[in-house]
Amino acid sequence: MTARFPILQAATRSGSQQIAAAVAIAFVGSLSIPTATYAQTPATGAASAAVAASATAGASTGGAQFTVQPGQSLNDAAIAMTQSHDRTVLARAAKVIFDANPNAFMGHDPSRLRLGAVLNLPAVDATGAPVGAASAPASASAASGAAAQAAANAKNGEIVFGRCAQCHTAAKGGGNGLGPNLFGVSGRKAAALPGFPYSPALKNANITWTDANLHKWFENPMKMVPGTRMAFAGVRRSQDIDDLIAYLKTQK
Ligand code: HEC
Repeated sequence: MTARFPILQAATRSGSQQIAAAVAIAFVGSLSIPTATYAQTPATGAASAAVAASATAGASTGGAQFTVQPGQSLNDAAIAMTQSHDRTVLARAAKVIFDANPNAFMGHDPSRLRLGAVLNLPAVDATGAPVGAASAPASASAASGAAAQAAANAKNGEIVFGRCAQCHTAAKGGGNGLGPNLFGVSGRKAAALPGFPYSPALKNANITWTDANLHKWFENPMKMVPGTRMAFAGVRRSQDIDDLIAYLKTQK
C-alpha cells in the first residue's frame, strides 16, 4: 500500500519526512491529533498509516479526533485517519470510524455525517483494519454490532417520532391524542383500539401493521389509505422509517 500525497511529493522527495508530516497535518486542517500520532516509515519512503503505539494506547481514552467541517464526508475522515488514498483501505477505515461513532450519523446512514460532529478515530493499521480488534471472534463482534445497530436505530426512531408526537403517544397508557395511542401497534390490526374514532377508510382497510405495512403507511398514509384521517405528509427517508418501526417495536 502506498499512500499518495500529490501536493506533498516535493517535500517527500527531498527526503524531509518531518516536513511532510507537518504539512500533512496542516493539510488535513481540522484533524486534531496528538503530535506523532501517525508514524512515517522512511525505509519505504511511503507515509505509513500505522498509528504509533502511543496513539494506540490513547485511542480508547480519546486519542485522535476529527471535527466534521462543511462539505466533509466520512471518506474525508478516513483519509485523515489513514493518510491513504487507496480505496480498499479507505473503505475499511470508514467502516471503523462509522462503527466507533454511531451518534455522528443521522439515521445511522454513513452518508449523513453530522456537521460539527467530533469523530473519534480508532487506531488502525496500514490496511485500515482496526488495531487489536483483528483477533476478536468475528461472530461475537458481528452479534454485538447488530445489537448496537438495533439500539441505535431505535434511538433515532425515537427522535423521528417527535414528528408524530403532536398527535400520538407511544407509551403504555399514554392515551389518545388527535391520533390513537401507538403502544403495541407493531403487529396489531389497524383501527383496533376500542374507543378511538377511526375513519371508515382505515377501519375498512383490513390492514395488519406488519413492518412492510407500517413502512408504506409512514411513507404516505394518504396514498396507502385514501380517506384516512391521519393528515401527515409522510417521512421522506427510508432509513428514518425503518428506525421509527424499530422504535415502535420497543413500545410493547
Ligand atoms: C396530524 C396528526 C397526526 C400526525 C402528525 C401523525 N398521525 Fe398517525 N394517526 C393520526 C390519526 C388521526 C390516525 C387515525 C387515522 C384514521 O383513522 O384514518 C392515525 C393513525 C396512525 C396509525 C394507525 C394506528 C392504528 O391503531 O391502526 C399509526 C401506526 C400511526 N398513526 C403512526 C404515526 C406515526 C409514526 C407518525 C409520525 C411519523 C404519525 N402517525 C403522525 C394522526 C396523526
